[in-house]
Amino acid sequence: MTVTIKECTREDLQLLQEISVETFNDTFKDQNSPENMKAYLERAFNSNQLQKELSNSSSAFYFIFCKEEIAGYLKVNMNDAQSEKMGDESLEIERIYIRNSYQRKGLGKYLFNKAMETAIRQNKKKIWLGVWEKNENAIDFYKKMGFVQTGAHSFYMGDEEQIDVIMTKTP
Ligand SMILES: CC(C)(COP(=O)(O)OP(=O)(O)OC[C@H]1O[C@@H](n2cnc3c(N)ncnc32)[C@H](O)[C@@H]1OP(=O)(O)O)[C@@H](O)C(=O)NCCC(=O)NCCS
Repeated sequence: MTVTIKECTREDLQLLQEISVETFNDTFKDQNSPENMKAYLERAFNSNQLQKELSNSSSAFYFIFCKEEIAGYLKVNMNDAQSEKMGDESLEIERIYIRNSYQRKGLGKYLFNKAMETAIRQNKKKIWLGVWEKNENAIDFYKKMGFVQTGAHSFYMGDEEQIDVIMTKTP
């Protein structure tokens, strides 16, 4: 399996938008109302919002390609781009998504290793993430990658308040 990772640039907006919407829908549509899904997708993945995030030098997006087809993506945040005030010595994995047909083939671990590499290169002391308490697959994956639960925070899916488990690891 030929796997490559590429850091996204502002020119990648359209592809980023497509894969973000597809993977978010596939992951969460069965456990959330269509109204809340629609509200979230429009807010989080509209062109202006994604363009702003792509331009933020404290965030980085990476695509993962498998035999030249896009298989998933990663978003990491540092400094003020983190969604919680975790400080400059932390790196957040905000999004890690593998398309359905590519899951359980080692690609999530590949992207996770990319995040680890970034954390080590930037001298970060902590790598952390928030994951919906009902997303058991992702929680099991993160545990396998060595994360442990260190807290929780609220998150809004449309008008519904949900709980994100905070998980942390030392790079
Ligand atoms: C969670 C996700 C990123 C994992 O990526 P993946 O490519 O399917 O996982 P990998 O094949 O790289 O698995 C890496 C390791 O984790 C284990 N693992 C993966 N998913 C697992 C699960 N649901 N339960 C238990 N172990 C799991 C694998 O067995 C593998 O173990 P190994 O290193 O001993 O072989 C992927 O399934 C995904 O995109 N899910 C939907 C989106 C999502 O929920 N993202 C997280 C939002 S916070």
